[in-house]
Amino acid sequence: MIRKCLFPVAGYGTRFLPATKSMPKEMLPIVNKPLVQYGVEEAINADLNEIALVTGRGKRAIADHFDISYELENQIAGSSKERYLDCIRNVLEKGTFMMTRQREMKGLGHAILTGECLVGDEAFGVILSDDLCLNNEDDEGVMAQMVKLYNQFRCSIVAIQEVPLEEIEKYGVIAGEEMGDGLFRVSSMVEKPKPEDAPTNMAVIGRYILTPDIFDILRETPPGKNGEVQLTDALMTQAQNGCVLAYKFRGKRFDCGSVPGFIEATNYVYENIYAEGSS
Ligand code: G1P
Repeated sequence: MIRKCLFPVAGYGTRFLPATKSMPKEMLPIVNKPLVQYGVEEAINADLNEIALVTGRGKRAIADHFDISYELENQIAGSSKERYLDCIRNVLEKGTFMMTRQREMKGLGHAILTGECLVGDEAFGVILSDDLCLNNEDDEGVMAQMVKLYNQFRCSIVAIQEVPLEEIEKYGVIAGEEMGDGLFRVSSMVEKPKPEDAPTNMAVIGRYILTPDIFDILRETPPGKNGEVQLTDALMTQAQNGCVLAYKFRGKRFDCGSVPGFIEATNYVYENIYAEGSS
């Protein structure tokens, strides 16, 4: 059983300055809900109720968001505005929240390793909240789809999506043999290759299930692309030692780490999901 989901939320959000100067980028709202809450709801919907946040300096707003605000509760209890709190109350009822701080920014692999003290020796999910994933109507979320696969195959799994080759340099990229149903056994993984060096156009999206041996591998993984400890490199080692799967998920994904993707997500959620007075 997987119970935990790790959220690396220590990054700076430079692309959204000045908005992110004193506010965590994960608190930027898509319409009325912070990006990180979408991710936490996706985890909880997959029954990953133990939320492990790897935070950093200047990120206290995230911890406060996943706690009760007594002033607010007092102020609006019993009033017509109380329904605006429903959606976050639901998350607080189901989830438990733990956090640790990443003191230096040394890459995604380093952030995951920093979370070892919260995860321990068990398989866990990882959600990068910059990648907003929304399920198709009457379908389950991406993390729930991946948990089902994990229960069947018991190895690390990465979510993938085909992207135009000219955008491939923004992503980790996989190559592998298709096993059917959009599932690949990874034979090669490379972080942010130039289009001419990319083995395929199958990009890793910010959803992972990792088996706990990843921590020992990360400890031994030297800095890679951009001088950072790359999760992609550690996963490549895992694939060589055993098995890593890549899964073409069902649903929509928006790159909310970029301004155009953020705007696209905002328009989509406003037009298709948000309804005045609900969440
Ligand atoms: C990270 C990973 C990359 C992955 C991407 C998905 O990169 O290193 O492999 O494809 O997330 O969003 P980042 O976007 O943090 O630079």
